[in-house]
Amino acid sequence: MKRSAGVLLLLLLVLPAHAARPYRGGVVAAAYPEASGAALEILDRGGNAVDAAVAAAFAAGVVGPYHNGIGGGGFALVARPGKETLALDFREVAPAAATRDMFLRDGRPVPGLSTDGGLSVAVPNAVNGYLALLERAGSLPRPVVLAPAIRLARAGFVVTPKYRQVVAQRLECLRRSPEAARTFLRLGPDGTPGVPPLGTRIRQPDLARTLQRIASEGASVLRAGPVARAIVQTVREDGGILSEEDLRSIQPRWRAPLQGSYRGHRLAVFPPPSGGGIITLQTLGVLERLRPEGWKRRDPTDLHLYLEALRRAYFERAQLVGDPGQVDVPAERLISPGHVAELAASIDPRHATPSSALQAAPGGTGSAGASQPEQKHTTEVSVLDRAGTAVALTTTINGWFGSCLVARGTGVLLNDEMDDFSVQPGVPNLYGLVFGERNSIAPGRIPVSSMAPTVVFQEEHPDRVLLALGASGGAYIPTGVLQVLTNVVDGRLNLPAALAAGRVHHQWMPDVVSVNPEALDPPTRAALEAMGHTFQVVDGPLGDVEAVMEDPRTGLRTAASDPRNEGAALGQP
Ligand code: DON
Repeated sequence: MKRSAGVLLLLLLVLPAHAARPYRGGVVAAAYPEASGAALEILDRGGNAVDAAVAAAFAAGVVGPYHNGIGGGGFALVARPGKETLALDFREVAPAAATRDMFLRDGRPVPGLSTDGGLSVAVPNAVNGYLALLERAGSLPRPVVLAPAIRLARAGFVVTPKYRQVVAQRLECLRRSPEAARTFLRLGPDGTPGVPPLGTRIRQPDLARTLQRIASEGASVLRAGPVARAIVQTVREDGGILSEEDLRSIQPRWRAPLQGSYRGHRLAVFPPPSGGGIITLQTLGVLERLRPEGWKRRDPTDLHLYLEALRRAYFERAQLVGDPGQVDVPAERLISPGHVAELAASIDPRHATPSSALQAAPGGTGSAGASQPEQKHTTEVSVLDRAGTAVALTTTINGWFGSCLVARGTGVLLNDEMDDFSVQPGVPNLYGLVFGERNSIAPGRIPVSSMAPTVVFQEEHPDRVLLALGASGGAYIPTGVLQVLTNVVDGRLNLPAALAAGRVHHQWMPDVVSVNPEALDPPTRAALEAMGHTFQVVDGPLGDVEAVMEDPRTGLRTAASDPRNEGAALGQP
């Protein structure tokens, strides 16, 4: 005992900053400590990575209601040793009554209509997704997996400075919904609902009851019956078009992950309707092809290639990705070696290509609004269990507090995922992303997403997971994933250092490179400016990455949660 305590103390003293604690058992990283705690509790009860990830996702929805929850949707990848990797798409769809121009009046988008209130709500699909994952690849009974979330909803979470900040930004929207105001706000001295004081406990007894019902009855709770009716009523009273039939008919979809490789590592990424996976594979493909012998990481020439690859990949995503069930998405062609070679060949090694020189999205002005800093309304949960199964699960209600509507008596906060469509082709969404016709609104259609759960396999043992990761942050998601991945594979950084490194982002439109203040030294930035790149320094996180990893040599595991946020990484000894 004494000796191991001594070793531990020594380790703590000698571990450099950013060194991760190594674990022999399962590891988890998530954007909330309570969510990571829920996952660890489930692993300790003998659950596998799927049980743990689903427990964490339910728990994250309770303690981070402004980012995610059972009123939203998401994607998950499940990598299992010796079996094929699973991809589950449980993203929301447009209600059956949705129309292409529903957010336009006199031919122009109405501000706020696709982000606040009834019309912004797409058909929730998260519960269907979480429970489909459990059924197919989990091992514990539903009530066990939901127990931590139910407990947290009853006990409540404590208002932090961040909660106050987020609420302040969405105050008007939240005040419009009496149920949301009752749950998430507190009456001020003047008698109007306002930002709750620090330390206030936000209990969600209605949500606890709904979760309890889901634990005993399953996904049918959101398909029909009182909870489903309350959701539809609340949305319709606020001018929305959701119907009970929409809730009854929505399904999660098992898809084949897209496969790729990078420097000897096999990769599984999320297919359309995610645009993130294609961006990841295209960018890595271009880098592998164009980097000269002896290239140096993060020198101006290498960063230029990275930025030009991103410009092209985000451009193609904007034009060509859509709901694969409704539009023809040439995913395999986009990631094929021939096409990646064409993208690479179009890059001028010395000069930035103006984004406007790539053919613009229909109706695109080429001057889309700047991407917003400090966007992280989504949650990533990454888990690797003792047996080597890994889950990367990203889930969201889109904007902060989604639509701001809480369905009466149920605690279910509804998403505003309709804003992920091109409200009008060429008009930027919340994340400054500009899309074309393929992502226009149609009944039952899935909006394109940036969410990019990703699994990288070991070079030495192609069946074992090296890295499972994902991110939140809207348009910043793919670049967050890409940089952590390359920091590990090329830079050989340990996981916390790979997450802590400054980030560099380009998304085609707006034509600007976003960087963290610490990302580039002045000479590197000057060299890139001389090539024609324009910069904006973002004093925010540029995405929140959550990742788990196994060391191929030792088999030891590490987990890391983005140091710019409030998440936590935990593991089993
Ligand atoms: O699916 C998407 O791309 C967006 N709804 C994700 C939103 C998001 O990450 C917001 N967070 N920061």
